[in-house]
Amino acid sequence: MPVAIETRKTPENHQTLVIKPAADGLALRGRLRVPGDKSISHRALMLGSLAEGETVIEGLLLGEDPLSTAHCFRALGADISELNSQQVRIQGIGLGNLREPGNVLDAGNSGTTMRLMMGILASHSDRFFVVTGDDSLRSRPMSRVVKPLQQMGAQIWGRKGNSLAPLAVQGQRLKPTHYQSPIASAQVKSCVLLAGLMTEGDTTVTEPALSRDHSERMLRAFGANLTVDPETCSVTVHGPATLRGQTVVVPGDISSAAFWLVAAAIVPGSDLVIENVGVNPTRTGILEVLAQMGADITPENEREVAGEPVADLRVRHSALKACTIAGDIIPRLIDEIPILAVAAAFAEGTTVIRDAAELRVKESDRLAVMATQLGQMGAQITELPDGLEITGGAALTGTAVDSYTDHRIAMSLAIAALNATGETQIHRAEAAAISYPDFTDSLRQLCDQ
Ligand code: S3P
Repeated sequence: MPVAIETRKTPENHQTLVIKPAADGLALRGRLRVPGDKSISHRALMLGSLAEGETVIEGLLLGEDPLSTAHCFRALGADISELNSQQVRIQGIGLGNLREPGNVLDAGNSGTTMRLMMGILASHSDRFFVVTGDDSLRSRPMSRVVKPLQQMGAQIWGRKGNSLAPLAVQGQRLKPTHYQSPIASAQVKSCVLLAGLMTEGDTTVTEPALSRDHSERMLRAFGANLTVDPETCSVTVHGPATLRGQTVVVPGDISSAAFWLVAAAIVPGSDLVIENVGVNPTRTGILEVLAQMGADITPENEREVAGEPVADLRVRHSALKACTIAGDIIPRLIDEIPILAVAAAFAEGTTVIRDAAELRVKESDRLAVMATQLGQMGAQITELPDGLEITGGAALTGTAVDSYTDHRIAMSLAIAALNATGETQIHRAEAAAISYPDFTDSLRQLCDQ
């Protein structure tokens, strides 16, 4: 086998992923599918719960993050069938009909669950909710959603001046607002739009650059009345809305496909087709940057499935060159920066990533963690206040690294390990299950041929 892959349990009940490529002959070839899109999976569970009638979800991501959303909405009264990636059925309870749960709602590691749910809870009058999450989520900024909701009249309490979870929410009838978000964040935008669903009048959110638009697409499909102005990056929901259950077909997650796109681009001899990948233009910054770096990626079989563009992506190994990644493209590849840092480590020249300070408040401080962990493997990587500078070409050497419990860090380091000499041990690699439960199995299958 060209790559030895092993998982070990640690006494603390973590998992270490051990990857040791053979000196020659590793090439990633064949076809594979990645699991369902995380952002779309969350939204399908939430809108299905809030809609009237039945929603059917095909291709739901069974990662830990959407499972947190499903647990929360079951506790809020939605009737969600057993979760599987074929077909999940939800009997929605209708906007305004969530019940007050008798216990705390736990969003686990999932920022999307907590931030989007806050907009829904804050607008459910006469009910009291408490939301919390794991160590990582309880340290992530929530003022970005608390502020616009307060502007709409919401009553929210939390640690550190209402900015950290656990958060307590006394549901209210809210008033419409125009919120100018200082950050391009789909979580903030979606939180405000969801709060606007039950609010009478026009609730508008404007962001400095366009973030992913899955909420807008799905809200419209469920029957909400929305106006989108791409020129000013503004979206208005004309409330109150009625949502009707739909069939949602979840495409493969481009953020998960990104690991294989980079793996095949950097490993000589590779030729992979990743089938059924969502290629919504608000998510395809990674494809534009990899093309600019000289990657050989061809979209095949382009089609539209349930309101989202989908394609198969064929990627073949090629020599990569450095590039600059900054400005308005950042929100369109925000989750792919760790794996792009790996691509940059194998590209000729110095890649500069700027305007990405948001990475410091993700599941981990992704700028600091990528700089230290990839640096430990021998990459020439420097942390900038709002980005990274990576000079490619230094040979990487396997060593002990850590995911910092961040799923995208764990998988990015695994791809770096494929092109390193010797054995890499990735500690706390179980984090991958947040968005990609079968990551290690797919890695094994690809490497075992
Ligand atoms: C997401 C939005 C992004 C992204 C996250 C998922 C979403 O976060 O990083 O993984 O589903 O809306 P921000 O809105 O904080 O940029």
